Amino acid sequence: MSERSDDIRRRREEAMAGFEQRAKEAVELINERGRPKLRIKPLIQSTDKEKLDELIAAIEKRLATNVQPEEYSLYNILAHLKTYDLENPSTDEDGFDTNGFELAISELNQVMRFFDSGREEKGIEYLLYRYKIKKFAYKLDTSGFIPLLHLEAATNCNLVCTMCYQSDERLKELIKEQKVKTMPWELFTKVVDEAYEHGCRGMVFAGRGEPTINPRFTDMLRYCHEKGVLHLKFNTNATYLTEKMAREWLSMNACLIIVFSVDAGDKKVFEEIRIGADFDKVKANVEMFARIRKEEFPNSPVRTRINMVISRPKDQDPEAARVMWAPLVDEFSVQTANAEQAGSTYLNNPDGTPRNVAPDRVCIAPFTRMYVWADGRVNPCENDYLSWLCLGNANTESLHEIWLGNTKHELTMRKLRLAFITGKKNCFRPCNNCLGKGSSDA
Ligand SMILES: C[S@@+](CC[C@H](N)C(=O)[O-])C[C@H]1O[C@@H](n2cnc3c(N)ncnc32)[C@H](O)[C@@H]1O
Ligand code: SF4
Ligand code: SF4
Repeated sequence: MSERSDDIRRRREEAMAGFEQRAKEAVELINERGRPKLRIKPLIQSTDKEKLDELIAAIEKRLATNVQPEEYSLYNILAHLKTYDLENPSTDEDGFDTNGFELAISELNQVMRFFDSGREEKGIEYLLYRYKIKKFAYKLDTSGFIPLLHLEAATNCNLVCTMCYQSDERLKELIKEQKVKTMPWELFTKVVDEAYEHGCRGMVFAGRGEPTINPRFTDMLRYCHEKGVLHLKFNTNATYLTEKMAREWLSMNACLIIVFSVDAGDKKVFEEIRIGADFDKVKANVEMFARIRKEEFPNSPVRTRINMVISRPKDQDPEAARVMWAPLVDEFSVQTANAEQAGSTYLNNPDGTPRNVAPDRVCIAPFTRMYVWADGRVNPCENDYLSWLCLGNANTESLHEIWLGNTKHELTMRKLRLAFITGKKNCFRPCNNCLGKGSSDA
């Protein structure tokens, strides 16, 4: 075994051993800094006044013809766009801070990507989809189906980042015992087909592992795109990125958002946090992707982002990282580590009793989210990465019925929703140790 792999193994073991302590530190960090908020700041601007006017004209044209009832929201979207402040645009893509409907500038850029690639109709459809997410989903309206589904392509990961649940021994144990670690193709097509049929137009490859570990990951992206999914996104640690992948993703002509997760601009801090990753290799991979895009696919609608998670504020310098990574991508985001993803949901008080935090809070996860894990289990959120809140299995059950809460399991989405809106969040574990997802923070 080489010196480097010995060192990585030692650091992995240390990271696992120090997990609970770091979960406590993450809570302290949140108490000090406030809840993490994801703000998407585009580095490249695709929207100007002229393009905005073009979009407004296209919507007016659409409204002047045969407008269908499901498109009536275009009137509201139009009113919003007519007063859009390009000088001071919103950067809140998640819509947590905007009570009504507001488009973040990054979303508007996305619409322009559809327009620039000659797909105006798709751009307008994308606007309707974003409206649905922000206006309806966050208003606790669950009568239809979730507009955006979270899919876990792989539960396992090749790294053990120190702020991530992958450094929790219990998750590692769960993964070891789990027979299916990467989502099988049959399960994938089953859930995507059903979700699409119910109007779902967004698929985010999220969850607990590294999606590129799934050997059919590129096929998954292509399948969603060819089906008509409008919003495709995934995060990757970029360690496995190859030229072949880059060309396949870029040639799909999909409006795909690729988030490269890097937590530092310098090798030492990066490798201390992202245990198992080689800074030079990751940098070379992201550079390779940027080069291929520039040289071979200059008009690709793919959008790239760097995401930096702050878990060691004294060592991580976001400005230095931005200077280093920004020339390679379209967007740069920085957020404080989420304490729940760092394991705080399963922490108890020093005397062993549950922490019982935020009893009055209405967590919006079961109203707005649904995760299908790689083995088919369905969960309302990733804060509960050990899946104590499992709501069913997509291999054998209908996703739609799980969403509506029409299953015979002891725990259903409906039960969670009813309990949450009547102030009983803390009757559930690990919700009693979780601040929950709120409408005023991410
Ligand atoms: C869990 S990872 C899975 C995808 C992939 N392995 C990666 O690193 O991009 C998804 C995202 O969560 C971020 N993340 C990890 N731990 C976090 C934490 N405690 N708080 C907030 N984000 C975190 C990662 O940096 C990454 O951008
Ligand atoms: S952040 Fe991503 S790469 Fe790092 S351990 Fe977690 S899942 Fe793996
Ligand atoms: S309270 Fe936390 S654990 Fe419970 S559903 Fe909400 S985000 Fe998930």
